[in-house]
Amino acid sequence: MGLDIAGASGYHEKNGARFRHRKRGYGMCKDAVVFFNKPKGVDLEAGKSYMYCMCGRAKEGLFCDGSHKGTGCMPLKFTVEKSKAYLLCRCKSSKNLPFCDGTHSFYGEDDVGGPVMGE
Ligand code: FES
Repeated sequence: MGLDIAGASGYHEKNGARFRHRKRGYGMCKDAVVFFNKPKGVDLEAGKSYMYCMCGRAKEGLFCDGSHKGTGCMPLKFTVEKSKAYLLCRCKSSKNLPFCDGTHSFYGEDDVGGPVMGE
């Protein structure tokens, strides 16, 4: 079963298509797939550059391993100011990528590996 968004708040329908009441997250790729429907806590170092996986196809679903080739996605380079654990998005739908903003709650287990929701 795919994503069941019938009756979910935050959506509207127009010309037979469903649209989400939000803008895509920064750099969000329309070809991305949901790697997982929950974030993962990762220790990150201040000042170090990371390449976040935007396509949802990297082995761990977090950092680019080149799996985006052939998709329209590109990794997102980012740094953090403080060394600590951060919750990184693995549903690829956060408005604050690479960080989780809770948007994953719209996805169920059956949506893992499927397309991300669009606008
Ligand atoms: S895992 Fe994507 S918003 Fe939480």
